[in-house]
Amino acid sequence: MRFALSFALAAGLAIPLFAADAAKEVEKMMSEIKTPNKALKKLAQAKKFTDPAFSTDLAKLEKAGDKLKAFKHPEAEFNKMSVDMSTAITALKAAVAKKDVNEADKAWKELSNSCASCHDKYKKD
Ligand code: HEC
Repeated sequence: MRFALSFALAAGLAIPLFAADAAKEVEKMMSEIKTPNKALKKLAQAKKFTDPAFSTDLAKLEKAGDKLKAFKHPEAEFNKMSVDMSTAITALKAAVAKKDVNEADKAWKELSNSCASCHDKYKKD
């Protein structure tokens, strides 16, 4: 009984504490994603996928994406969507390396969809 009570208390306290920490951590990672993504978006809209600046910013986004992927959110669906974002970045990098503008354009859209899917589910506002 005493064990059950302290267990329930610990679990009840740990979940909201973890959730608050996780939200803060995610917010920090999003600010690291935001800057390179903004620069990439501008170049992508002009179809300048082969511009050297595109690769520079994509490398920054990849690094931020790796952090997001390494972060373990309590919900499996969130973690799956982090992996999806990294997969989309890898595909985009491959298209850029081939200088295939059509494929890069498609991969860019997939990447943007990966942001939107997670925001639809986990971003409140
Ligand atoms: C696996 C989930 C997930 C993925 C993938 C994801 N985000 Fe987010 N993002 C979030 C969550 C959750 C928030 C809300 C966090 C908060 O600020 O409390 C957020 C917030 C943001 C914000 C607002 C916060 C700020 O600093 O202004 C921006 C901008 C953002 N994301 C950009 C992106 C971009 C661009 C991508 C894709 C390249 C992306 N995100 C991919 C989960 C994700």
